[in-house]
Amino acid sequence: MAKAPMRVAVTGAAGQIGYSLLFRIANGDMLGKDQPVILQLLEIPDEKAQKALKGVMMELDDCAFPLLAGMTAHSDPMTAFKDADVALLVGARPRGPGMERKDLLEANAQIFTVQGKALDAVASRNVKVLVVGNPANTNAYIAMKSAPNLPAKNFTAMLRLDHNRALTQLAQKVGKPITSIEKLCVWGNHSPTMYADFTNALIDGKPAKELVNDQAWTKDVYLPTVGKRGAAIIEARGLSSAASAANAAIDHVHDWVLGTNGKWTTMGIPSDGSYGIPEGMVFGFPVTTENGEYKIVQGLQIDAFSQERINLTLKELQEERDGVKHLVG
Ligand code: NAD
Ligand code: LMR
Repeated sequence: MAKAPMRVAVTGAAGQIGYSLLFRIANGDMLGKDQPVILQLLEIPDEKAQKALKGVMMELDDCAFPLLAGMTAHSDPMTAFKDADVALLVGARPRGPGMERKDLLEANAQIFTVQGKALDAVASRNVKVLVVGNPANTNAYIAMKSAPNLPAKNFTAMLRLDHNRALTQLAQKVGKPITSIEKLCVWGNHSPTMYADFTNALIDGKPAKELVNDQAWTKDVYLPTVGKRGAAIIEARGLSSAASAANAAIDHVHDWVLGTNGKWTTMGIPSDGSYGIPEGMVFGFPVTTENGEYKIVQGLQIDAFSQERINLTLKELQEERDGVKHLVG
């Protein structure tokens, strides 16, 4: 029997990431090739944005996707999020050259207060929320705090792009395929302080630490390349990453809903206190997923260098959180 359609709300639907994201969702890349979807697309009320959204919807129509069971355009989150099973909060201002993601805090924080409240009021009680708009961790924290009637665990932030970047840089260093690498993760904030950690990773079943026994490369090349990749792309393209960001959003939700079969991935999730991260901070953790739920990988040995890096990214997130206290009460 055919599955009932799932309702997927996407904000910023006429933006750059939206343009790479919607077609893949409608193609079944995110929720499965047997899962029909209804797209509920939110843009700002501005006439130009709404007109551009209509254009994107015309193109979606023109793809004749068998899994696209319906789509609607919205300018109000209270209608866009109605009964949503998945909400991808992409709509926000991207940074330009020379800006850090936290420079967007003031510009974007308000959006996530309003949208958190709307999710609280009208979304499915099981809605899975992924915040992509920057600064993603703190925006997810704001949305979560603005939705007290939804489980906090439903709110996540995107660190999957960082995870994918970390995988590729490591694979290229050792000259092995991506699929040879397991048990890699990115701790903390989606910002240059993030800590891409391969201390527990295996490459073709062997400890990555033995294959890459090069502290200088790790510190001076690997971590800065992964941590500052977003800025490098802005510098090269004049625009922030879009197709790779959309791809990471697809990966994040795909794995959350459909499971990782015991494999690790990275998700920004509200801490349960694991590894000394204060409860409720939205932090990148190594997770596995099963039956639509994620679980933090437990029992890892954190060496002194890793602890130092985790402390650094935590400190930055705590500062961001303190900066938005007035919005979350
Ligand atoms: P964009 O400017 O091309 O598109 C953003 C869209 O959001 C615009 O169409 C705008 O009208 C819309 N928008 C703004 N406020 C909105 C609101 N309140 N409700 C609904 N829609 C709204 O930007 P983009 O390149 O698509 O990037 C979107 C966001 O994603 C930025 O904040 C960017 O920094 C972030 N991003 C995050 C990651 C990550 O890894 N977490 C990666 C890439 C980009
Ligand atoms: C990225 O990592 O590519 C995005 O967060 C965009 C940015 O501002 O870096």
